[in-house]
Amino acid sequence: METIVSGMRPTGHLHLGNYFGALTNFIKMQQNYDCYFFVADYHMLTTHPNPADLQDNVRIILSEYLASGLDPEKATIYVQSMVPEVAELYMYLNMITYVGELERTSAFKEKVRQNPNNVNAGLLTYPTLMAADIILRKATKVPVGKDQQQHLEMTRDIAERFNKLYKTDYFPLPQAFNFDGDLVKIPSLDGNGKMSKSYGEKATVYLTDEGNVLKKKIMSAKTDEGPQSPNSPKSVEIENLFSLMKLVSKPEIIQQFEDSYADCSIRYGDMKKQLLADMDSFLQPIRERIKEIYSDEAYLNKVIAIGTEKARQSAKKTIKEVREIIGFRV
Ligand code: TRP
Repeated sequence: METIVSGMRPTGHLHLGNYFGALTNFIKMQQNYDCYFFVADYHMLTTHPNPADLQDNVRIILSEYLASGLDPEKATIYVQSMVPEVAELYMYLNMITYVGELERTSAFKEKVRQNPNNVNAGLLTYPTLMAADIILRKATKVPVGKDQQQHLEMTRDIAERFNKLYKTDYFPLPQAFNFDGDLVKIPSLDGNGKMSKSYGEKATVYLTDEGNVLKKKIMSAKTDEGPQSPNSPKSVEIENLFSLMKLVSKPEIIQQFEDSYADCSIRYGDMKKQLLADMDSFLQPIRERIKEIYSDEAYLNKVIAIGTEKARQSAKKTIKEVREIIGFRV
């Protein structure tokens, strides 16, 4: 069975984009592949989080992934920092990764622009740590979005370099997992393209949003001045509202609004109220499960312990073999 690895950065709550994007695919993958899903908490240290926040964010992301259907019986779910073998492999890989190639990474250049006062060596070597995550598992497939493609290419380069240097074919060269067009695009609420935290909190619906918070976000979604003539094309903002509705509303309801848009009788206020009600019903059971899991410390600890144990077993084997290949044989 092919091995898949993916890391999840613990940076707060999951939003609808994460839910209908990566998460939906993880849930499908765990049926058919040997999946390793981990919380990338080592990676977070580049931003110097305070210890209590770091710990809480790890628990939040785990609760939200588990509540959404990631299954610890099917996939190996673990916390990166509890598998110290990854740090050892990261060090070895840093010896064959060049400063020049790291400096040319677009994510690095972007971070330097955003935070010129915190250009630490960990930030520079972020791709090496990611390579270690992947090849420690000898993974062949990695589900990556556009923003991570370059990092995956570097992983391949580094793995290939290791193999050449030590005249071995020890590490497979991991490929991007192809979603075959399964990726649903979730629009943001302000007509700004994809839902993403970087467009601002107000245009992003989190799985945990409820009550007035949810209401305010949906009711203030951007619209336009309304259809000016029958069957006129929709603006991006209105397309977005319909796309969101398609995620959570019944087909008859959607058709009703399609019809009233077509004959110009639509009232966006009513459409948003409907979207709010349907979104709320959709999120309600997920929210409940998140709360349940998050407050069940014993269950979370058990999931982490089981996943970490499984992850470490294979990690220890890889490290032992890598040490032998490198020449640490005493
Ligand atoms: N860099 C990834 C992100 O920002 C997270 C990540 C860390 C990852 N290690 C990984 C993803 C290994 C896939 C495989 O989303």
